[in-house]
Amino acid sequence: KPFCDNSHIKAGFTATGEPPLKEAQVLEARDGPLNVTPTANGPLKLEGNAEIVTGTGHTVARTTKVFLCRCGHSANKPFCDGSHKRVGFVA
Ligand code: FES
Repeated sequence: KPFCDNSHIKAGFTATGEPPLKEAQVLEARDGPLNVTPTANGPLKLEGNAEIVTGTGHTVARTTKVFLCRCGHSANKPFCDGSHKRVGFVA
């Protein structure tokens, strides 16, 4: 981690589908620094101008701060919903 080593294939990972589309305000700027910080035993914190885009090209969020799930247990992927605490995720 954080790099893919194809373990998802052996684990039988299947995508849970597209997140629901929501109205997202246009960002004042689309460039600039994007800081990615792994939180302790929790999500990745992104700070900066960010657009979250699905694999099919739909933008589901435009934001300047977001927490992305890295434990795999969120019911609201790609966003963290706090499930990492319930499952005892250890980074
Ligand atoms: S990291 Fe928070 S729900 Fe996965």
